[in-house]
Amino acid sequence: MSQFTVAIVGTGPDPTNPTVEGFAMGYRHAEAYRNNDHCRVVACADIVRENAEAFAGEFDIDDDGIFEDYTEMLETVEPDLVSVTVPPSIHEEIVVGCADSGVVDAVHCEKPMAHTFASATRMVEACNERDVQLTFNRQRRFGRPFTEANRLLDEGAIGDLERVEIGWGDFFDTGAHTVDLAGMFNDEHPAEWVIAQLDYREEDIRFGAHQENQMWAQWRYDNGVHGVMATGESASLTDAAFVLRGTEGTIRIDVEDGPMLELSRDGTCEEVDVGEENMHWAPSSGNEDRFGSPFQDRSISNAVDALRTGETSQLSGEHGLKTAEILFGGYESVRRRARVDFPLEIDDNPLEEMVDSGALTPAPESSDRRNN
Ligand SMILES: NC(=O)c1ccc[n+]([C@@H]2O[C@H](COP(=O)([O-])OP(=O)(O)OC[C@H]3O[C@@H](n4cnc5c(N)ncnc54)[C@H](O)[C@@H]3O)[C@@H](O)[C@H]2O)c1
Repeated sequence: MSQFTVAIVGTGPDPTNPTVEGFAMGYRHAEAYRNNDHCRVVACADIVRENAEAFAGEFDIDDDGIFEDYTEMLETVEPDLVSVTVPPSIHEEIVVGCADSGVVDAVHCEKPMAHTFASATRMVEACNERDVQLTFNRQRRFGRPFTEANRLLDEGAIGDLERVEIGWGDFFDTGAHTVDLAGMFNDEHPAEWVIAQLDYREEDIRFGAHQENQMWAQWRYDNGVHGVMATGESASLTDAAFVLRGTEGTIRIDVEDGPMLELSRDGTCEEVDVGEENMHWAPSSGNEDRFGSPFQDRSISNAVDALRTGETSQLSGEHGLKTAEILFGGYESVRRRARVDFPLEIDDNPLEEMVDSGALTPAPESSDRRNN
């Protein structure tokens, strides 16, 4: 069987100690390619050579597949597929560089899409123009609590979906997953507007980007379904990480002191089986998985299958942009002190701009937060 040749840009320094300062997602992607019969990891690039060398040792990459400059790697190796696992502010440079190279068929990039809305948009445009498949690694879509909830929705178990409530994580970093999942539950409809407020009293930098401490946001999709999200201290507003309210019932995911997935309708509540999976984790599939996870394997499989069949992946850049519009639009609503109607017509990251301009003045990060 012919295999896609794969290259990783941004290997990461340390796969054994994942934190918001460095998760080494390159290892997690490579592990998933190693578990995929259609792929062979042949090269890696990292501006820190020793990172690339350690990574190459782990994944049996020959010495002539190790690079510091990703453009040299593209020219020399001409990989079919590239995973981009550098910090968000560098995603655009590498993704557009891959598209412009003319040798790459597909790019699988990490989330959040980018550090600004304009950057996210340009990546999608560049890949569309050059007919390069672009997907973003929103691997939670493949966790059973979420796929089973989606199945129940499709079967009409709660009638018509009316509202998705989220009480988990933060707005930008985790939001790239949670708002994406809300979009999945609502059949990928785009939003029409968003209104939001936030509190940012203590600095919190994640993967190189500012992240507020607490936020409230509400948005409406073009089919009338609402999304609401409470993060930080207000996340306990909902009694589960996700509450999906329909005309005839409710689905709860990760219920407080309750099951991972619960269906309520006709006055009764039932637990829905999701195996041993939770929102973050699933038992090993039996393959070698030193650095990966079944969610990661399924995400890479989805992107690879889309490349093989020509079908559009549910991880596509277009779906990613719908989430990015809500995230950057939420910050823009805080800046404007008003509801923001879409299409979103800003280029920057309003949260970063509000910090830079002094409109928001978070105190330096305490050791308590850093150690959490
Ligand atoms: N999907 C998820 O659940 C999840 C979890 C954690 C992190 N992430 C995302 O993964 C991405 C990577 O984060 P990380 O924490 O794994 O990064 P990391 O810091 O562990 O690794 C990034 C690597 O990129 C290298 N690098 C930087 N600029 C480069 C360039 N121009 N060319 C080549 N290499 C370069 C660095 O030297 C570093 O080794 C981020 O977008 C982050 O938000 C996603």
